[in-house]
Amino acid sequence: MRVACEVCGSLLDVIYDWNRLEPPTSFDFFERKWQRRYDPHDFSGVWRFYELLPFTPKAQIVTIGEGQTLLQPSAGVGKYIGLKSGNLFLQYEGMNPSGSFKDNGMSAAFTHAHTTGAKRAACASTGNTSASLALYCSVTKLMKAVIFIGSGRISYGKLSQALDYGALTMQIAGDFDDAMARVKEVAAQEGIYLVNSVNPFRLEGQKTIMFRVLEALRWQVPDWIVVPGGNLGNSSAFGKAFAELKEIGLIDRVPRLAVINAAGANTLYELFEKRGLRWNGGRPQQAITDTFYGEMDASDRRASTIASAIEINRPVNLDKCLRALEVMDGVVREVSDQEILDAKAQVGAGGLGCEPASAASVAGAKLLVSQGVIGPEDRVVCILTGHQLKDPTATVAYHTTDQEQFNKVLGSRGVKRAAFANRAVAVPNELDEIVKAIRLYS
Ligand code: F0G
Repeated sequence: MRVACEVCGSLLDVIYDWNRLEPPTSFDFFERKWQRRYDPHDFSGVWRFYELLPFTPKAQIVTIGEGQTLLQPSAGVGKYIGLKSGNLFLQYEGMNPSGSFKDNGMSAAFTHAHTTGAKRAACASTGNTSASLALYCSVTKLMKAVIFIGSGRISYGKLSQALDYGALTMQIAGDFDDAMARVKEVAAQEGIYLVNSVNPFRLEGQKTIMFRVLEALRWQVPDWIVVPGGNLGNSSAFGKAFAELKEIGLIDRVPRLAVINAAGANTLYELFEKRGLRWNGGRPQQAITDTFYGEMDASDRRASTIASAIEINRPVNLDKCLRALEVMDGVVREVSDQEILDAKAQVGAGGLGCEPASAASVAGAKLLVSQGVIGPEDRVVCILTGHQLKDPTATVAYHTTDQEQFNKVLGSRGVKRAAFANRAVAVPNELDEIVKAIRLYS
């Protein structure tokens, strides 16, 4: 499967001829489909929007019931961020079958893979893409999953999924960036279908996250979409979604975009905010990126963050993300592991919970409010990309009373405090003592 242009090397993009396709002229069209949710195509939170991603005949669609997600208003987390009550919404993608937003894009890429007759599909992953691919393979039995992961780099929740679902799991002695480079080579040499977000169909599926956000807001466009940035597939997809909705006349304005990097994997922040890299009409200044990557290689700088899902230094969708930042008048910020874990604890206490990378969106929104970029009156949607149970190690280490465990897992990442820790109370196995402790603490 070809994912890049043979002449310029840029990633391919899916482009529709909207004049010919005649997309719906009102959002009611999609709402009516919900009445037909006995049909798996209309049950799916991805394919319910088929007319906005019509790259394949309907009969070819592969769905496992992805996209049943929730836009949760959260007063507690909104207050933590500094927003007026009622203005924060958490888009919880952890409700997907494999527990992360990846199922939106996987359903689309898997559908395309199936139309090509592929029998094997591969990806490099920080854990969620691989869990998603493994799940689609195990449920449908249409393909064999071959996954590449950095050794010791993915959380146990995600690794356990890949193993349980029966994926061929290649642990590369290296990190995600190494695994990504290798999987491209292997896929090309062995003719294996590649489902990383270099695959343009992945992004088509991920557009639907924005459609569901709009649907939950009764089609009112929010002021901000805040999303963690790793390989930059989501942010790229969101920009494409809004550009297309505007083009076909379903919305008249687009929200602003904030992409949040972890400080230990901050390529986009560095390039966009510090070095002025821009979309530039489709010709981003390659020299800026080359210089930065050259410096990174010279100092052997590796991505490093507790938010392992976004521990990526060479985001494959960099250019498309620049386009999204242009379309959505976007900004990029970086947040520390300390800020990420504190925000995650807030999401756990007042939202539906999430994994560390997801909480970067909340930490980033807080930072942007403190900088006056996001106003307290703005309506803000933070994307919670992955389920809380994906990375229990980080969560337990944050809340632990065991200083050694805290230091090992978090102290080594520069995390000093756990301001919102909910520590377990150790009690002897005696009724009186247990009751005494409950009375003391409740
Ligand atoms: N949040 C989570 C939970 C993720 O798993 C990822 C990416 C991101 C955010 C970043 O999204 O790449 O679209 O910018 N995980 C990939 C993986 C890289 O292999 O599972 P992005």
